[in-house]
Amino acid sequence: MDYQQIIEEVYQEVQEENLRGKVADYIPELARVNPDQFGIALVDLKGNVFGVGDYQVPFSIQSISKVHTLTMVFHVFNSKLFSRVNVEPSGNPFNSIAQLEFEKGVPRNPFINAGALVITDALCSKFEKPIEQISDFINEISGKNCVSINDSVKKSEQNHGERNTALAYFLKSYKNFNNNIDEVLDVYFSQCAIEMNCVDLAKSFSYLANDGFSIFANREILSESHARRVNALMLTCGFYDEAGEFAFRVGLPGKSGVGGGVAAVMPHKFSIAVWSPELNEKGNSVKAIKALELLTDKLSFSLF
Ligand code: DON
Repeated sequence: MDYQQIIEEVYQEVQEENLRGKVADYIPELARVNPDQFGIALVDLKGNVFGVGDYQVPFSIQSISKVHTLTMVFHVFNSKLFSRVNVEPSGNPFNSIAQLEFEKGVPRNPFINAGALVITDALCSKFEKPIEQISDFINEISGKNCVSINDSVKKSEQNHGERNTALAYFLKSYKNFNNNIDEVLDVYFSQCAIEMNCVDLAKSFSYLANDGFSIFANREILSESHARRVNALMLTCGFYDEAGEFAFRVGLPGKSGVGGGVAAVMPHKFSIAVWSPELNEKGNSVKAIKALELLTDKLSFSLF
């Protein structure tokens, strides 16, 4: 399988379609990026890297970091945390607050913002220096010191963080939030403001394509059964109210972020990161989704 040739073809075909969306502007600092950037990096299970376009340019990973934080507390999640966060697709936008009231403060899944805040809260209970430990973890599984936290992006979100702050207070009112709200939000905004390029991001997802074992960290990150569950959550909930469409068009477990990134895995074959900042109305990158759709068409395989 010539992955390099395939991703080059995909890149070319997506560029020819001239798809347009809108860069996220509810975090003003994100609206400053050049919207025309587009990169793809694919990493196979031997560690070979294939890349095209702007695949070495760091970008804001935003909600993709929710997969990393979930992994860090997954064993807690799998036992006790299940009562605090469900594992159902939400069918609602990522920052929705309405469902949380109907469902008595238990978020539908760990990838919508409410669920991710519960996960970060759990992480703050477990780790003494959560921000450093999230960075260390991602550095370890991507095999090098690649993580930086963009302070302007973090502050920009902090200054416009009313919705996430409301979600955190709402969770607290249902006693589903244990730590200081400002401290947890600080960690959450930091994890969202992490910048990485497509290569390092794809490497940091490699363990999910490899039954939980990271070839970059050279250790088991998750057990095989936990890795399968994280993949199931990505497939059913990774794209919020567009999860069905992503499964239908692409057929891989994946996670998006409003920085325009998408990370996805093909179990037992590869992990991939695609980035282009312009988003559709659901907050997912227009070009990244198209690229992954073309990729699985050309490969003639997906999860299905
Ligand atoms: O909390 C937020 O709204 C952002 N920091 C992250 C949202 C996000 O990336 C949604 N994904 N497509």
